[in-house]
Amino acid sequence: MPYRTIIEPFRIHSVQAIDFPTGEQRQEALLRAGYNLFGLHGDEVIIDLLTDSGTGAMSAQQWAGMMVGDESYAGSRSFYRLRDVIEDLTGLQEIIPTHQGRAAEKILFTTVVNEGDVVPNNTHFDTTRANVEYQNAEARDLVISEGIDPSSEAPFKGNMDVVALVRTIEEVGRERVPLIMVTVTNNSGGGQPVSMANLRAVREVCNRYEIPFFLDACRFAENAWFIKQREEGYADRTPKEIAQEMFSLVDGCTMSAKKDGLSNIGGFLAMNNPHVARQCRNLLILTEGFPTYGGLAGYDLEAIAQGLVEVLQEEYLRYRIRSTGYLADKVSGAGVPIVRPPGGHAVYLDAKSFLGHIPPHEYPAQALAVELYREGGVRGVEIGSVMFGKPQPDGTELPAAMELVRLAVPRRTYTQSHIDYVGEVVIAVAERAEHLRGYRIVEQAPWLRHFTARFEPV
Ligand code: F0G
Repeated sequence: MPYRTIIEPFRIHSVQAIDFPTGEQRQEALLRAGYNLFGLHGDEVIIDLLTDSGTGAMSAQQWAGMMVGDESYAGSRSFYRLRDVIEDLTGLQEIIPTHQGRAAEKILFTTVVNEGDVVPNNTHFDTTRANVEYQNAEARDLVISEGIDPSSEAPFKGNMDVVALVRTIEEVGRERVPLIMVTVTNNSGGGQPVSMANLRAVREVCNRYEIPFFLDACRFAENAWFIKQREEGYADRTPKEIAQEMFSLVDGCTMSAKKDGLSNIGGFLAMNNPHVARQCRNLLILTEGFPTYGGLAGYDLEAIAQGLVEVLQEEYLRYRIRSTGYLADKVSGAGVPIVRPPGGHAVYLDAKSFLGHIPPHEYPAQALAVELYREGGVRGVEIGSVMFGKPQPDGTELPAAMELVRLAVPRRTYTQSHIDYVGEVVIAVAERAEHLRGYRIVEQAPWLRHFTARFEPV
Protein backbone atom coordinates (compact mmCIF):
# COMPACT_ATOMS: atom_id res chain seq x y z
CA MET A 1 0.00 0.00 0.00
CA PRO A 2 1.40 3.46 -0.81
CA TYR A 3 2.47 5.52 2.21
CA ARG A 4 -0.17 7.97 3.30
CA THR A 5 -0.10 10.48 6.13
CA ILE A 6 -2.10 9.27 9.12
CA ILE A 7 -4.66 12.03 9.49
CA GLU A 8 -6.79 13.19 12.39
CA PRO A 9 -9.90 10.97 12.07
CA PHE A 10 -12.27 13.87 12.76
CA ARG A 11 -13.39 17.22 11.43
CA ILE A 12 -13.27 20.18 13.79
CA HIS A 13 -16.73 21.52 14.52
CA SER A 14 -16.10 23.90 17.40
CA VAL A 15 -12.85 25.64 18.28
CA GLN A 16 -11.31 27.45 21.21
CA ALA A 17 -8.95 30.36 20.50
CA ILE A 18 -5.36 30.16 21.75
CA ASP A 19 -3.81 33.27 23.30
CA PHE A 20 -0.32 34.26 22.18
CA PRO A 21 1.51 35.90 25.09
CA THR A 22 4.67 37.71 23.91
CA GLY A 23 8.14 36.71 25.07
CA GLU A 24 8.07 39.60 27.50
CA GLN A 25 4.70 38.53 28.94
CA ARG A 26 5.97 34.97 29.32
CA GLN A 27 9.00 36.21 31.21
CA GLU A 28 6.76 38.22 33.54
CA ALA A 29 4.51 35.20 34.06
CA LEU A 30 7.55 33.07 34.97
CA LEU A 31 8.70 35.64 37.54
CA ARG A 32 5.23 35.85 39.06
CA ALA A 33 4.95 32.03 39.24
CA GLY A 34 8.41 31.63 40.79
CA TYR A 35 9.45 29.60 37.71
CA ASN A 36 6.87 26.95 38.58
CA LEU A 37 4.77 26.11 35.52
CA PHE A 38 1.87 24.99 37.73
CA GLY A 39 1.56 28.68 38.69
CA LEU A 40 0.82 29.82 35.13
CA HIS A 41 -2.67 30.77 34.05
CA GLY A 42 -3.99 28.62 31.23
CA ASP A 43 -4.25 31.72 29.04
CA GLU A 44 -0.53 32.32 29.40
CA VAL A 45 0.22 28.99 27.71
CA ILE A 46 0.27 28.56 23.92
CA ILE A 47 0.41 24.76 23.72
CA ASP A 48 -0.43 23.00 26.97
CA LEU A 49 1.19 19.58 27.35
CA LEU A 50 1.07 19.56 31.15
CA THR A 51 -1.22 16.52 31.14
CA ASP A 52 -3.37 14.33 28.93
CA SER A 53 -5.86 14.06 31.81
CA GLY A 54 -9.25 15.70 31.33
CA THR A 55 -7.81 17.91 28.60
CA GLY A 56 -9.14 16.04 25.55
CA ALA A 57 -11.88 17.16 23.19
CA MET A 58 -15.22 15.39 23.39
CA SER A 59 -17.02 14.27 20.27
CA ALA A 60 -20.36 15.51 18.95
CA GLN A 61 -21.81 12.17 20.11
CA GLN A 62 -20.56 12.77 23.64
CA TRP A 63 -22.02 16.30 23.73
CA ALA A 64 -25.26 14.94 22.34
CA GLY A 65 -25.27 12.29 25.08
CA MET A 66 -24.91 15.03 27.66
CA MET A 67 -28.20 16.55 26.50
CA VAL A 68 -30.01 13.31 27.27
CA GLY A 69 -28.23 12.75 30.60
CA ASP A 70 -30.64 11.63 33.30
CA GLU A 71 -30.07 13.58 36.50
CA SER A 72 -32.11 11.27 38.75
CA TYR A 73 -30.44 11.07 42.13
CA ALA A 74 -31.09 7.33 42.31
CA GLY A 75 -31.33 4.93 39.40
CA SER A 76 -30.29 7.32 36.63
CA ARG A 77 -30.74 5.87 33.14
CA SER A 78 -27.29 7.26 32.32
CA PHE A 79 -25.76 5.11 35.06
CA TYR A 80 -27.27 1.96 33.57
CA ARG A 81 -25.96 2.89 30.15
CA LEU A 82 -22.47 3.38 31.59
CA ARG A 83 -22.72 0.17 33.60
CA ASP A 84 -23.65 -1.80 30.48
CA VAL A 85 -20.72 -0.35 28.51
CA ILE A 86 -18.24 -1.12 31.30
CA GLU A 87 -19.66 -4.61 31.82
CA ASP A 88 -19.40 -5.36 28.11
CA LEU A 89 -15.80 -4.09 28.05
CA THR A 90 -14.49 -5.57 31.30
CA GLY A 91 -16.79 -8.45 32.18
CA LEU A 92 -16.65 -7.10 35.76
CA GLN A 93 -19.90 -7.30 37.68
CA GLU A 94 -19.74 -4.57 40.30
CA ILE A 95 -19.41 -1.09 38.82
CA ILE A 96 -18.97 1.95 41.04
CA PRO A 97 -18.69 5.42 39.47
CA THR A 98 -16.38 7.99 41.11
CA HIS A 99 -15.51 11.61 40.38
CA GLN A 100 -12.04 10.65 39.15
CA GLY A 101 -9.39 7.94 39.36
CA ARG A 102 -7.91 8.82 42.72
CA ALA A 103 -11.33 8.60 44.38
CA ALA A 104 -11.60 5.00 43.15
CA GLU A 105 -8.12 4.33 44.57
CA LYS A 106 -8.97 5.92 47.92
CA ILE A 107 -12.16 3.87 48.29
CA LEU A 108 -10.55 0.59 47.23
CA PHE A 109 -7.45 0.97 49.42
CA THR A 110 -9.41 2.17 52.45
CA THR A 111 -11.45 -1.02 52.11
CA VAL A 112 -8.77 -3.64 51.42
CA VAL A 113 -5.34 -2.28 52.45
CA ASN A 114 -4.22 -2.41 56.11
CA GLU A 115 -1.30 -0.95 58.01
CA GLY A 116 1.93 -2.84 57.25
CA ASP A 117 0.65 -4.27 53.97
CA VAL A 118 2.67 -4.19 50.74
CA VAL A 119 1.03 -3.35 47.40
CA PRO A 120 3.07 -4.33 44.35
CA ASN A 121 2.56 -2.45 41.06
CA ASN A 122 4.71 -2.12 37.94
CA THR A 123 5.01 1.59 38.82
CA HIS A 124 2.57 3.40 41.07
CA PHE A 125 1.28 6.70 39.79
CA ASP A 126 1.76 9.49 42.42
CA THR A 127 -1.85 9.46 43.67
CA THR A 128 -1.91 5.65 43.75
CA ARG A 129 1.28 5.59 45.80
CA ALA A 130 0.01 8.35 48.10
CA ASN A 131 -3.27 6.52 48.66
CA VAL A 132 -1.44 3.28 49.55
CA GLU A 133 0.93 5.14 51.87
CA TYR A 134 -1.98 6.94 53.50
CA GLN A 135 -3.04 3.49 54.77
CA ASN A 136 0.44 3.15 56.35
CA ALA A 137 1.20 0.47 53.78
CA GLU A 138 4.11 0.19 51.35
CA ALA A 139 3.70 0.88 47.61
CA ARG A 140 6.36 -1.25 45.90
CA ASP A 141 7.35 -0.67 42.26
CA LEU A 142 8.44 -3.86 40.49
CA VAL A 143 8.78 -2.90 36.82
CA ILE A 144 11.29 -4.92 34.73
CA SER A 145 14.81 -3.47 34.57
CA GLU A 146 14.37 -2.32 30.94
CA GLY A 147 11.54 -0.14 32.26
CA ILE A 148 13.99 2.20 33.98
CA ASP A 149 16.55 2.31 31.16
CA PRO A 150 15.56 5.29 28.96
CA SER A 151 17.51 4.00 25.95
CA SER A 152 16.17 0.41 25.90
CA GLU A 153 13.98 -0.26 22.86
CA ALA A 154 12.18 -3.20 24.50
CA PRO A 155 8.57 -3.39 23.24
CA PHE A 156 6.84 -3.82 26.62
CA LYS A 157 8.84 -1.76 29.07
CA GLY A 158 5.84 -1.49 31.37
CA ASN A 159 5.94 -5.21 32.23
CA MET A 160 5.97 -6.36 35.84
CA ASP A 161 9.10 -8.20 36.96
CA VAL A 162 7.32 -11.44 37.83
CA VAL A 163 10.35 -12.97 39.57
CA ALA A 164 10.61 -9.93 41.83
CA LEU A 165 6.87 -10.13 42.43
CA VAL A 166 7.09 -13.73 43.65
CA ARG A 167 10.12 -12.82 45.77
CA THR A 168 8.17 -9.97 47.36
CA ILE A 169 5.21 -12.21 48.23
CA GLU A 170 7.53 -14.87 49.68
CA GLU A 171 9.45 -12.26 51.65
CA VAL A 172 6.54 -10.33 53.19
CA GLY A 173 4.02 -13.18 53.31
CA ARG A 174 0.89 -13.62 51.25
CA GLU A 175 -1.37 -12.25 53.99
CA ARG A 176 0.37 -8.86 53.82
CA VAL A 177 -0.28 -8.48 50.08
CA PRO A 178 -3.96 -7.46 49.81
CA LEU A 179 -3.86 -7.02 46.04
CA ILE A 180 -1.48 -6.80 43.09
CA MET A 181 -1.86 -3.90 40.66
CA VAL A 182 -0.58 -3.36 37.14
CA THR A 183 -0.80 0.08 35.52
CA VAL A 184 -1.60 0.11 31.79
CA THR A 185 0.11 1.89 30.20
CA ASN A 186 2.81 2.54 32.79
CA ASN A 187 2.50 6.31 33.09
CA SER A 188 5.26 6.97 35.61
CA GLY A 189 7.55 4.66 33.65
CA GLY A 190 7.20 6.63 30.40
CA GLY A 191 3.75 5.56 29.18
CA GLN A 192 5.14 2.15 28.27
CA PRO A 193 2.79 -0.78 27.56
CA VAL A 194 2.37 -4.10 29.34
CA SER A 195 2.11 -7.27 27.24
CA MET A 196 -0.75 -9.75 27.43
CA ALA A 197 1.80 -12.45 28.25
CA ASN A 198 2.94 -10.43 31.25
CA LEU A 199 -0.64 -9.87 32.45
CA ARG A 200 -1.19 -13.62 32.13
CA ALA A 201 1.96 -14.35 34.13
CA VAL A 202 0.82 -11.98 36.91
CA ARG A 203 -2.58 -13.70 36.84
CA GLU A 204 -0.88 -17.05 37.45
CA VAL A 205 0.98 -15.65 40.44
CA CYS A 206 -2.30 -14.24 41.78
CA ASN A 207 -3.93 -17.64 41.35
CA ARG A 208 -1.07 -19.42 43.06
CA TYR A 209 -1.17 -17.16 46.13
CA GLU A 210 -4.90 -16.35 45.98
CA ILE A 211 -4.31 -12.61 45.79
CA PRO A 212 -6.73 -10.33 43.87
CA PHE A 213 -5.38 -8.74 40.69
CA PHE A 214 -6.41 -5.16 39.79
CA LEU A 215 -5.57 -3.03 36.77
CA ASP A 216 -4.98 0.70 37.00
CA ALA A 217 -6.74 0.94 33.66
CA CYS A 218 -6.50 4.70 32.84
CA ARG A 219 -4.90 4.09 29.44
CA PHE A 220 -6.19 0.58 28.69
CA ALA A 221 -7.05 1.35 25.05
CA GLU A 222 -3.60 2.72 24.25
CA ASN A 223 -2.16 -0.40 25.88
CA ALA A 224 -4.43 -2.59 23.74
CA TRP A 225 -3.19 -0.82 20.60
CA PHE A 226 0.45 -1.51 21.50
CA ILE A 227 -0.41 -5.19 22.04
CA LYS A 228 -2.03 -5.27 18.60
CA GLN A 229 1.07 -3.69 17.04
CA ARG A 230 3.78 -5.52 18.96
CA GLU A 231 2.63 -8.83 20.44
CA GLU A 232 2.52 -11.98 18.38
CA GLY A 233 -0.97 -13.27 17.69
CA TYR A 234 -2.82 -9.98 18.14
CA ALA A 235 -2.39 -8.21 14.80
CA ASP A 236 -5.80 -9.36 13.55
CA ARG A 237 -7.73 -8.79 16.76
CA THR A 238 -9.71 -5.61 17.33
CA PRO A 239 -8.65 -3.21 20.09
CA LYS A 240 -11.90 -4.01 21.86
CA GLU A 241 -11.25 -7.76 21.79
CA ILE A 242 -7.75 -7.17 23.13
CA ALA A 243 -9.04 -4.88 25.88
CA GLN A 244 -11.67 -7.47 26.80
CA GLU A 245 -8.96 -10.11 27.08
CA MET A 246 -6.87 -7.81 29.30
CA PHE A 247 -9.81 -7.26 31.64
CA SER A 248 -10.73 -10.95 31.62
CA LEU A 249 -7.46 -11.61 33.48
CA VAL A 250 -8.22 -9.37 36.46
CA ASP A 251 -10.51 -9.27 39.48
CA GLY A 252 -11.07 -5.56 39.29
CA CYS A 253 -9.80 -2.18 38.16
CA THR A 254 -9.52 1.48 39.05
CA MET A 255 -10.06 3.89 36.21
CA SER A 256 -9.70 7.59 35.53
CA ALA A 257 -12.13 8.39 32.71
CA LYS A 258 -10.14 11.59 32.11
CA LYS A 259 -7.71 9.60 29.98
CA ASP A 260 -9.07 6.74 27.85
CA GLY A 261 -12.63 7.59 28.92
CA LEU A 262 -12.22 10.61 26.60
CA SER A 263 -14.01 12.72 29.20
CA ASN A 264 -13.15 15.88 31.10
CA ILE A 265 -14.03 14.37 34.49
CA GLY A 266 -14.97 11.02 35.98
CA GLY A 267 -13.74 7.58 36.86
CA PHE A 268 -14.85 4.26 38.27
CA LEU A 269 -13.98 1.29 40.39
CA ALA A 270 -15.03 -2.14 39.14
CA MET A 271 -14.64 -5.62 40.55
CA ASN A 272 -16.19 -9.07 40.84
CA ASN A 273 -16.18 -9.52 44.60
CA PRO A 274 -19.67 -8.50 45.85
CA HIS A 275 -18.62 -8.32 49.52
CA VAL A 276 -15.78 -5.88 48.90
CA ALA A 277 -18.03 -3.94 46.50
CA ARG A 278 -20.66 -3.55 49.20
CA GLN A 279 -18.10 -2.04 51.60
CA CYS A 280 -16.81 0.23 48.83
CA ARG A 281 -20.33 1.46 48.08
CA ASN A 282 -20.85 2.29 51.75
CA LEU A 283 -17.76 4.48 51.66
CA LEU A 284 -18.80 5.89 48.30
CA ILE A 285 -22.04 7.18 49.81
CA LEU A 286 -20.01 8.88 52.52
CA THR A 287 -17.52 10.61 50.23
CA GLU A 288 -18.73 10.67 46.62
CA GLY A 289 -22.48 10.16 46.42
CA PHE A 290 -25.18 7.59 45.79
CA PRO A 291 -23.90 4.49 43.92
CA THR A 292 -25.69 5.36 40.68
CA TYR A 293 -23.88 8.68 40.25
CA GLY A 294 -20.75 8.59 42.44
CA GLY A 295 -19.95 12.29 42.47
CA LEU A 296 -20.78 12.84 38.80
CA ALA A 297 -23.63 14.48 36.96
CA GLY A 298 -25.85 12.20 34.90
CA TYR A 299 -24.48 13.92 31.80
CA ASP A 300 -20.91 13.03 32.81
CA LEU A 301 -21.94 9.36 32.97
CA GLU A 302 -23.23 9.66 29.39
CA ALA A 303 -20.02 11.28 28.17
CA ILE A 304 -17.91 8.51 29.71
CA ALA A 305 -20.13 5.73 28.33
CA GLN A 306 -19.75 7.13 24.82
CA GLY A 307 -16.01 7.88 25.32
CA LEU A 308 -15.30 4.26 26.27
CA VAL A 309 -16.82 3.16 22.97
CA GLU A 310 -15.05 5.73 20.78
CA VAL A 311 -11.63 5.22 22.34
CA LEU A 312 -11.44 1.67 20.94
CA GLN A 313 -12.01 2.69 17.32
CA GLU A 314 -9.01 1.65 15.25
CA GLU A 315 -8.80 4.89 13.28
CA TYR A 316 -8.73 6.83 16.51
CA LEU A 317 -6.02 4.69 18.14
CA ARG A 318 -3.87 4.65 15.00
CA TYR A 319 -3.95 8.46 14.91
CA ARG A 320 -3.52 8.77 18.68
CA ILE A 321 -0.42 6.65 19.03
CA ARG A 322 1.03 8.06 15.82
CA SER A 323 0.61 11.65 16.97
CA THR A 324 2.76 10.94 20.03
CA GLY A 325 5.27 8.98 17.91
CA TYR A 326 5.37 11.85 15.40
CA LEU A 327 6.52 14.33 18.05
CA ALA A 328 9.05 11.78 19.29
CA ASP A 329 10.45 11.25 15.78
CA LYS A 330 10.69 14.96 15.21
CA VAL A 331 12.71 15.73 18.32
CA SER A 332 14.77 12.50 18.28
CA GLY A 333 15.54 13.14 14.62
CA ALA A 334 17.13 16.43 15.65
CA GLY A 335 19.27 14.64 18.24
CA VAL A 336 17.25 15.48 21.36
CA PRO A 337 17.42 12.49 23.74
CA ILE A 338 14.07 11.04 24.80
CA VAL A 339 12.81 7.98 26.62
CA ARG A 340 12.67 5.23 23.98
CA PRO A 341 10.51 3.96 22.46
CA PRO A 342 7.92 6.76 22.76
CA GLY A 343 5.00 5.92 25.05
CA GLY A 344 1.32 6.16 24.27
CA HIS A 345 0.33 9.49 25.73
CA ALA A 346 3.53 11.46 26.09
CA VAL A 347 7.08 12.11 24.97
CA TYR A 348 9.61 12.26 27.79
CA LEU A 349 12.67 14.45 27.15
CA ASP A 350 15.76 13.12 28.90
CA ALA A 351 17.22 16.26 30.49
CA LYS A 352 19.97 14.40 32.31
CA SER A 353 21.65 13.33 29.11
CA PHE A 354 21.43 16.64 27.30
CA LEU A 355 21.90 19.09 30.17
CA GLY A 356 24.80 17.18 31.72
CA HIS A 357 26.37 20.45 32.88
CA ILE A 358 23.46 21.09 35.30
CA PRO A 359 23.81 18.86 38.39
CA PRO A 360 20.68 17.12 39.77
CA HIS A 361 20.48 19.46 42.77
CA GLU A 362 20.05 22.33 40.31
CA TYR A 363 17.12 20.53 38.65
CA PRO A 364 18.03 20.13 34.96
CA ALA A 365 14.53 18.99 33.96
CA GLN A 366 12.98 22.01 35.66
CA ALA A 367 15.43 24.23 33.76
CA LEU A 368 14.38 22.59 30.51
CA ALA A 369 10.65 22.84 31.25
CA VAL A 370 10.99 26.55 32.08
CA GLU A 371 12.96 27.14 28.90
CA LEU A 372 10.35 25.45 26.68
CA TYR A 373 7.80 27.86 28.07
CA ARG A 374 10.06 30.87 27.76
CA GLU A 375 11.01 29.94 24.18
CA GLY A 376 7.58 29.16 22.80
CA GLY A 377 4.86 29.10 25.44
CA VAL A 378 4.91 25.28 25.56
CA ARG A 379 4.08 23.83 28.98
CA GLY A 380 5.31 20.37 29.96
CA VAL A 381 5.95 18.98 33.41
CA GLU A 382 9.16 18.18 35.27
CA ILE A 383 9.41 14.54 36.33
CA GLY A 384 12.76 14.48 38.08
CA SER A 385 14.37 15.66 41.28
CA VAL A 386 11.85 18.42 41.93
CA MET A 387 9.09 15.81 41.99
CA PHE A 388 10.98 12.84 43.42
CA GLY A 389 14.17 14.19 45.08
CA LYS A 390 14.42 13.07 48.72
CA PRO A 391 15.64 15.73 51.17
CA GLN A 392 18.19 14.25 53.62
CA PRO A 393 18.70 15.17 57.30
CA ASP A 394 22.01 16.92 56.46
CA GLY A 395 20.24 19.34 54.09
CA THR A 396 21.39 17.63 50.88
CA GLU A 397 19.02 15.80 48.58
CA LEU A 398 18.95 12.33 47.08
CA PRO A 399 18.27 12.90 43.35
CA ALA A 400 15.59 11.09 41.36
CA ALA A 401 16.61 8.17 39.12
CA MET A 402 15.78 10.14 35.96
CA GLU A 403 15.49 13.84 35.06
CA LEU A 404 12.63 14.01 32.57
CA VAL A 405 10.27 16.57 31.08
CA ARG A 406 6.97 14.99 30.10
CA LEU A 407 5.17 16.44 27.10
CA ALA A 408 1.73 14.82 27.42
CA VAL A 409 -0.49 15.01 24.36
CA PRO A 410 -4.18 15.78 25.07
CA ARG A 411 -6.57 13.60 23.07
CA ARG A 412 -8.09 15.02 19.85
CA THR A 413 -7.09 18.55 20.89
CA TYR A 414 -4.07 19.64 18.87
CA THR A 415 -3.42 19.18 15.16
CA GLN A 416 -0.24 18.15 13.37
CA SER A 417 0.83 21.80 12.95
CA HIS A 418 0.59 22.36 16.70
CA ILE A 419 2.81 19.34 17.21
CA ASP A 420 5.24 20.60 14.53
CA TYR A 421 5.44 23.86 16.44
CA VAL A 422 6.19 22.02 19.71
CA GLY A 423 8.97 20.11 17.95
CA GLU A 424 10.45 23.38 16.67
CA VAL A 425 10.41 24.87 20.17
CA VAL A 426 12.12 21.80 21.68
CA ILE A 427 14.78 21.85 18.98
CA ALA A 428 15.40 25.62 19.39
CA VAL A 429 15.98 25.12 23.12
CA ALA A 430 18.19 22.08 22.49
CA GLU A 431 20.38 24.15 20.17
CA ARG A 432 21.31 26.45 23.02
CA ALA A 433 21.34 23.73 25.70
CA GLU A 434 24.85 24.59 26.93
CA HIS A 435 23.69 28.09 27.92
CA LEU A 436 20.86 26.83 30.15
CA ARG A 437 21.39 27.30 33.88
CA GLY A 438 19.93 25.45 36.84
CA TYR A 439 17.51 26.55 39.55
CA ARG A 440 17.38 26.52 43.32
CA ILE A 441 14.23 26.07 45.38
CA VAL A 442 13.45 29.11 47.56
CA GLU A 443 10.11 27.97 48.96
CA GLN A 444 8.57 24.50 49.25
CA ALA A 445 5.78 22.52 50.90
CA PRO A 446 6.55 19.46 53.10
CA TRP A 447 5.00 17.06 50.54
CA LEU A 448 4.11 17.12 46.84
CA ARG A 449 6.30 20.21 46.63
CA HIS A 450 6.39 20.27 42.83
CA PHE A 451 2.90 21.79 42.69
CA THR A 452 3.72 24.90 44.72
CA ALA A 453 7.52 25.30 45.08
CA ARG A 454 9.09 28.62 44.01
CA PHE A 455 12.45 28.73 42.26
CA GLU A 456 15.25 31.15 41.44
CA PRO A 457 17.82 30.81 38.68
CA VAL A 458 21.25 29.78 40.01
N1 F0G B 1 -3.44 6.32 37.68
C1 F0G B 1 -2.68 6.77 36.66
C2 F0G B 1 -1.80 5.81 35.93
C3 F0G B 1 -2.73 8.13 36.29
O1 F0G B 1 -1.99 8.55 35.26
C4 F0G B 1 -3.59 9.00 37.01
C5 F0G B 1 -3.65 10.43 36.66
C6 F0G B 1 -4.36 8.48 38.05
C7 F0G B 1 -4.26 7.13 38.35
C8 F0G B 1 -5.30 9.34 38.86
O2 F0G B 1 -6.41 9.69 38.14
O3 F0G B 1 -6.26 12.18 38.00
O4 F0G B 1 -8.42 10.98 37.58
O5 F0G B 1 -7.50 11.11 39.87
N2 F0G B 1 -2.78 10.98 35.94
C9 F0G B 1 -2.74 12.38 35.49
C10 F0G B 1 -1.44 12.68 34.79
C11 F0G B 1 -3.10 13.40 36.53
O6 F0G B 1 -1.18 13.86 34.51
O7 F0G B 1 -0.70 11.76 34.49
P1 F0G B 1 -7.20 11.07 38.41
